[in-house]
Amino acid sequence: MSWIDRILGRGPKSKAQTAKPLANSIMTAQVPVDAAARKPGSLLPSFPKFQSTAGDQLSPKLSDRFGAARMKLRAAFTPSQPVVDRRMFAGRVEVLTTLIRSLEDQRVHVVLYGERGIGKTSLVHVLAQAARDARYIVIYSSCGATSNFDELFRAVAAEIPLLFHSGFAPTAAEAERGQSVADLLPAGEVSPRQVSDVFAKIIGTRVLIILDEFDICNSTEFRRNIAELIKNLSDRSVRVQLVIAGVAGDLTELVEHIPSIRRNIFALQVPKMATSEIHHLIENGQSISGVSFEPPAMDFITSVSNGSPYIACLLSHHSGLAAVDKGRLKIGVEDVSVAVDQALAEFQGRISRPSQVQIEKLTKNGVRQILGMLAGASMFNGGRFDAADIDVLYPSAANAANCREVIEELTAKGILLEAVEDEYGRSYRFQEEAVPPYLWILAAQKRFLDSAKPSSGKEEAAPAAARAAARS
Ligand SMILES: Nc1ncnc2c1ncn2[C@@H]1O[C@H](COP(=O)(O)OP(=O)(O)OP(=O)(O)O)[C@@H](O)[C@H]1O
Ligand SMILES: [Mg+2]
Repeated sequence: MSWIDRILGRGPKSKAQTAKPLANSIMTAQVPVDAAARKPGSLLPSFPKFQSTAGDQLSPKLSDRFGAARMKLRAAFTPSQPVVDRRMFAGRVEVLTTLIRSLEDQRVHVVLYGERGIGKTSLVHVLAQAARDARYIVIYSSCGATSNFDELFRAVAAEIPLLFHSGFAPTAAEAERGQSVADLLPAGEVSPRQVSDVFAKIIGTRVLIILDEFDICNSTEFRRNIAELIKNLSDRSVRVQLVIAGVAGDLTELVEHIPSIRRNIFALQVPKMATSEIHHLIENGQSISGVSFEPPAMDFITSVSNGSPYIACLLSHHSGLAAVDKGRLKIGVEDVSVAVDQALAEFQGRISRPSQVQIEKLTKNGVRQILGMLAGASMFNGGRFDAADIDVLYPSAANAANCREVIEELTAKGILLEAVEDEYGRSYRFQEEAVPPYLWILAAQKRFLDSAKPSSGKEEAAPAAARAAARS
């Protein structure tokens, strides 16, 4: 039986071989009915247990090669955590080279922006390691909703030893006592000018301050202070540089008061990963976990993730565990299919009930493909897309016009989308963050399965029919 027959449920069925409807897959994902978990002689399953201890020791009952593979898989693919270890970091060579050059050659400050999960935090962690290797003092800080300039920069200054301040010899008593430049900041709320006055006297080293998840803090005052600090540091060629990272569709969304500092920053939108980089990510996980992905399984993951390391990591993780659960160390397309259903269930769980109902109605009406396209446009443009992005998606003018009409209908009715008017014109975004990846995976799953079928059966509705469906 071919793998596609197995996914599509043709031929003899076994428990986890078919791509199940979503509701079933939620059950499959969350309540595995595992005969092996039953106590001998009992009809009741034994009470669920953790499989490894807090010290990462595998339960002796499970210490076979599958138990070990499961543990290694968890470390190899970490969808809910950024990569901090360089050995696990895939691709991004060009991006890193560009970042290092701009920090080192141009001595500018860097702003990294991009969609959720595109790999900003992983990138800044690896950049931080490279800078530490070059003896920079690197201070990483993850911003919070209530980040405050005074608190943040006192903490940053506390990481810079006083011996690097021009006013103190390395043998000065204060430096020997282990004091830091924080001790030189005046009492009270510290201003960007006062911070840059102290930083201006740093010698003998370079300091890299990484402010990650910058989008989470929406205090205008905090953002204005950061822009002012960048301006002050740049005007005085200070040996302190900032790297700011956050979710945004464009630079101005992330850093306010940009006009005054545009010349002093290098802004980089983190691009989606190339196919070869996604393969690299999967191969890294393979070598760490000892499992292997069959080429069609790897293609399935690459196709659905479409350059998103988060989605690739999530699917690799779930499909690896699905295979191991079935007593295999080789991951096939059917395992990825289970993983895709699990990922859909996870994203669906993050979507509000009204949006779920709207999606169900629209996909039934045949707007699935258009929604999938819009989801892609949103995910790979930092959450926002405009008419020009639609023209790129639909090279035919008539289809692009139809798609635009669907968008306007949905926006006018407040269904899933909302319009944003600003200095750059009209653009659109999904009302809920989890909707684009959900729709994207749903459409990619269908595309992949259709492309693998000899005859794809029912076609998606043509754009004109989809437009009518959105209207109804
Ligand atoms: N270069 C990479 N190599 C391997 N895995 C990666 C890479 N970049 C990102 N990932 C994986 O993708 C996922 C998302 O990465 P990360 O947290 O760095 O993204 P982010 O852009 O900071 O996300 P957010 O917008 O939520 O802050 C993580 O699971 C991480 O393990
Ligand atoms: Mg992040």
